[in-house]
Amino acid sequence: MYKYIILSIVLSIASFILYFQMKGQSIKKEQFQPLSYKQADGKADSVLALMTQDEKIALIGGDRSFFIRPIPRLNFPEVYMTDATQGVHTREKFKDIDLTNYQLEKSTAFPCPISLAATWNPELSYRYAEAIGEECRAGGIGILLGPGMNSYRISQCGRNFEYFGEDPFLRARMVSEYVKGVQSTGTIATLKHFVANNTDYYRRKSNSILDERTLHEIYLPPFKAGIDAGAQAVMTSYNLLNGEWCGQNDYVINGLLRTQLGFRGLVMTDWWSVYDGEKLIKSGQDLEMPFAVALKDTRQLLQEGKIKIEDINRMAKNILRTCFIMKFDNRNKYVFDNTMYENHESVALQTAREGIVLLKNEKNILPLQKETKTILLTGEYAEKIAVGGGSAAVKGFNNRIMFDELKQEFGTRITYVKNPTLGQIKSADVVLCSIGTEDSEGWDRLFALPDDQEKKVEDCVNNNPNTVVIVTSGSGIRMTDWNNKARAILYAWYGGQIGNKALAEIIAGKTNPSGKLPITIEKEFKDSPGYGYIPKNETLYQGWNEKEEKKHLVYDIHYTEGIFVGYRWYEKKNIEPLYPFGYGLSYTSFEYSDLAVGTDIFHEQGTLKVSLTVKNVGTRKGLETVQLYLQDVECTVPRPLKELKGFIKVDLEPGQSRNVVIELTTKDFSFWNPKTKDWFFEKGSFILQVGSSSKEIKVQKQIEL
Ligand code: BGC
Repeated sequence: MYKYIILSIVLSIASFILYFQMKGQSIKKEQFQPLSYKQADGKADSVLALMTQDEKIALIGGDRSFFIRPIPRLNFPEVYMTDATQGVHTREKFKDIDLTNYQLEKSTAFPCPISLAATWNPELSYRYAEAIGEECRAGGIGILLGPGMNSYRISQCGRNFEYFGEDPFLRARMVSEYVKGVQSTGTIATLKHFVANNTDYYRRKSNSILDERTLHEIYLPPFKAGIDAGAQAVMTSYNLLNGEWCGQNDYVINGLLRTQLGFRGLVMTDWWSVYDGEKLIKSGQDLEMPFAVALKDTRQLLQEGKIKIEDINRMAKNILRTCFIMKFDNRNKYVFDNTMYENHESVALQTAREGIVLLKNEKNILPLQKETKTILLTGEYAEKIAVGGGSAAVKGFNNRIMFDELKQEFGTRITYVKNPTLGQIKSADVVLCSIGTEDSEGWDRLFALPDDQEKKVEDCVNNNPNTVVIVTSGSGIRMTDWNNKARAILYAWYGGQIGNKALAEIIAGKTNPSGKLPITIEKEFKDSPGYGYIPKNETLYQGWNEKEEKKHLVYDIHYTEGIFVGYRWYEKKNIEPLYPFGYGLSYTSFEYSDLAVGTDIFHEQGTLKVSLTVKNVGTRKGLETVQLYLQDVECTVPRPLKELKGFIKVDLEPGQSRNVVIELTTKDFSFWNPKTKDWFFEKGSFILQVGSSSKEIKVQKQIEL
């Protein structure tokens, strides 16, 4: 009898465990193992040997807008690529192209990448990208056209939401994990847009003029990090660099990308961005997208001897090899059930929770107290979800709107009024005012808010001292006229389908905010390093404006600030920004102490261990991002007062303290020497500055190296 009882208990436990294991396994994901470079190279050689000249020429020009052309005779498959900047851009049909084989039932809308950068959490970057990679696999998408990693130089740039902010070190750390996350699923990560593509104002006509030191110290590090993390593809940009379009620029592709950064994979153009086939072929470019436009005369160029068949072989081989590394010739779609979407939505939620930045919280109005009886919600994005546009567009499923999520937290205490009277604003205990911008690829937008929104926020702050402003934007906006009067400000970026849940949790106090700005927000646009980039007598436009773009002359953007971009600029120029880089409040507070270095003598090959203690001295559990900035005290070249070289995010219970260690290498102390084309470590005094933002340095120490 006993035997039976024991046996049935054992069996029930086993089936219970099995049930949960199977639940966890419901995503039928194979652990993707790429083919080695060498093996894929050999395979590419064999296929290339069988290809006709026409097949090679056909391969190096894109097909049906988003495909690499198949070679059915040789069993080489077509490869579909799409954008997934903040979730997979599902294109049911694209200009008569049938995409039925590449349909995802739905795709998760994640918070935008600048919001991901605001989490300062590289591990989350991995999970975010892994989730996107999985959805690509489920849709049969071989190449993800991202991540975008251009730099936040101009707050007006329409694509800032797609990128990771202003600092090269932060961008590099986030991108590195992103690439590993995407490619762990067998989806290719494409580092874009190479290079110095930092405005969308007549983007095909902007000529970025900058020097090599600036390129290496500010604009190349995220690309280098992505390459070192194994990224298989790079997309060149629309702009010119120092007088030549990047997609056909020998210095950019053969020089910077392939020689200096060591990239061996597939290079593709951005869509309609190249004009001269001969230059393109000689530049190191491999694939013209979306079609062979500049490459239409390839046969003639061959006949005239202007290019050689070896050039075409090189291009075709880079395409073949990359596809073989990723086993596109021999793989299945992932099969997913709804658990995948649940997992992805929880990654999206966590990103929003950690990415929303609390900029201001006078007298701790947030989280709202139980005594707050009447909450008035008004403004632009209370009932609709803002999302960045262009190729990054994503629909999402289960989109949660702000009012509904706030109702979940506050029930009948909250009401939404689209256009409240001044009387309604005055009589509420608290006003939540939602403002923002909807940014997009293809154009830049004014730093200042549209007039109607500026009026709305001013009406709120002028008539109710308990106004909490919620900003939904992909970039910095002008807050100067009402910043002092707002009681609290939450910067929520584009939160994706579930971002409003995180926002409501923060307002209600269920989540303690921990986001930190990955950008500096200036008081006035004229304060910023990018000011003056629009040609004289011209103004910003809205919409794609491609006809005008065709007529527009190439215009120069001189990066006169050089390496002094972002906080490096404001500190050098002694310009007080409204909110500094790295800044963000919490509902608790942290103390920093005991800054120490492992040794004051730096051995060139080793690392320097910087340690300190961080303590949560408030009453709530919270996350803090400890930031380490370096200053080179005496140097033969101009260097910034601060350069971010390390950060670490810690989770602390009230009263808990932790010893954290940040490791620095020689490279962290070095600058780029254009003469030797290498990083140069110059001995001398350095100041290690550790704090909770670029402005609030809590502990520092001078060291001699
Ligand atoms: C964008 C790229 C994008 C491509 C394909 C271009 O307009 O600049 O970032 O990947 O379109 O959608």
